[in-house]
Amino acid sequence: MRGLGFAALSLHVLLCLVNGVSSRRTSSYVRSEFPSTDMPLDSEWFATPKGYNAPQQVHITQGDYDGKAVIISWVTPSEPAPSQVFYSKEENRYDQKAEGTMTNYTFYDYKSGYIHHCLVDGLQYNTKYYYKIGTGDSAREFWFQTPPAIDIDASYTFGIIGDLGQTFNSLSTLQHYLKSGGESVLFVGDLSYADRYQHNDGIRWDSWGRFVERSTAYQPWIWNSGNHEIEYRPDLGETSTFKPYLHRYSTPYLASKSSSPMWYAVRRASAHIIVLSSYSPFVKYTPQWMWLKGELKRVDREKTPWLIVLMHAPMYNSNDAHFMEGESMRAAFEKWFVKYKVDLVFAGHVHAYERSYRISNINYNVTSGNRYPVPDKSAPVYITVGDGGNQEGLAWSSVIRSRTTPRSGRRATATRPCS
Ligand SMILES: [Fe+2]
Repeated sequence: MRGLGFAALSLHVLLCLVNGVSSRRTSSYVRSEFPSTDMPLDSEWFATPKGYNAPQQVHITQGDYDGKAVIISWVTPSEPAPSQVFYSKEENRYDQKAEGTMTNYTFYDYKSGYIHHCLVDGLQYNTKYYYKIGTGDSAREFWFQTPPAIDIDASYTFGIIGDLGQTFNSLSTLQHYLKSGGESVLFVGDLSYADRYQHNDGIRWDSWGRFVERSTAYQPWIWNSGNHEIEYRPDLGETSTFKPYLHRYSTPYLASKSSSPMWYAVRRASAHIIVLSSYSPFVKYTPQWMWLKGELKRVDREKTPWLIVLMHAPMYNSNDAHFMEGESMRAAFEKWFVKYKVDLVFAGHVHAYERSYRISNINYNVTSGNRYPVPDKSAPVYITVGDGGNQEGLAWSSVIRSRTTPRSGRRATATRPCS
């Protein structure tokens, strides 16, 4: 097993897969609790790029199973435009071209810009690529670095961020991450919090895309959805789920034989990363359940010794906020996590940092009476990192403290809704 390094922050975690070295780093950074005020729309952090119809909200994600492809996505705000990416290993050359697709959507009274997704594949490992999108005076140039080949000894550093939003605290998180040396982000759901605005204002999806572009245009963010992406609003005539998220954020789900962009897997360096959807069906015989059963069998620890699972709602959580919300997924999947010796399970949703010992509760059922988790060397470490900075503030009320300490004889409750 490779060594593992953490930069455990109050807002994001850095996970370093290091060849033969076990290292731990804990940051002294502590973010402020309040105010969690959204940055105004005219903030410089949301600035639109120069030039008519210039590509904006640029973001890339892994485009295949093994890291030799990226999906490059962007929005042209004013009118349709070619979904073309020009790229090269040499700066200013751009002698290769990939062709993508374009889509858009409406949500109540909001009409999105033109959203482009372009797969760039056949890349070499460990290589810097430059790319250009847009034309003429509106063209924009970026770059990204491909990961090392899949290998038991491949070192890599992931950032883990969840529940980011677009407040001044979100800005603090992103700025801190940009200085961290992370090479790719594992995002555990709840992106823009646009659903907190009247009519789920899509303008806040656009501002969020521009806000995170300073990282997402240059390195892949491995996306997962949260409850704020569901956006089920029958009162507005919006009865499909995850509509803005699915239009805006591509995932390479077909490469891992998934039938849905909501759950999938990628392999990167020495890690096999499984993305699970907390808000899609996962009980026995559902597509997600059947896919995960197969995907776990495809894990090859000789090539990817790190097995990492991402979900939104944590399976273990000692906070009052969202207590037990991950219990149904725990009942469905914990047995497999122990059987296949998952190393780490990252979740968001609860706006706090929390890390478990290696424990499992797989013997629990209605009649066993084994209510409490026990130490289990085959079990994952569970890490919650939902304090990315969104407008709902921090979770701070411990369910263990509030339910076991008599105090005034009544149980404390969470002070504000948060997710
Ligand atoms: Fe959430």
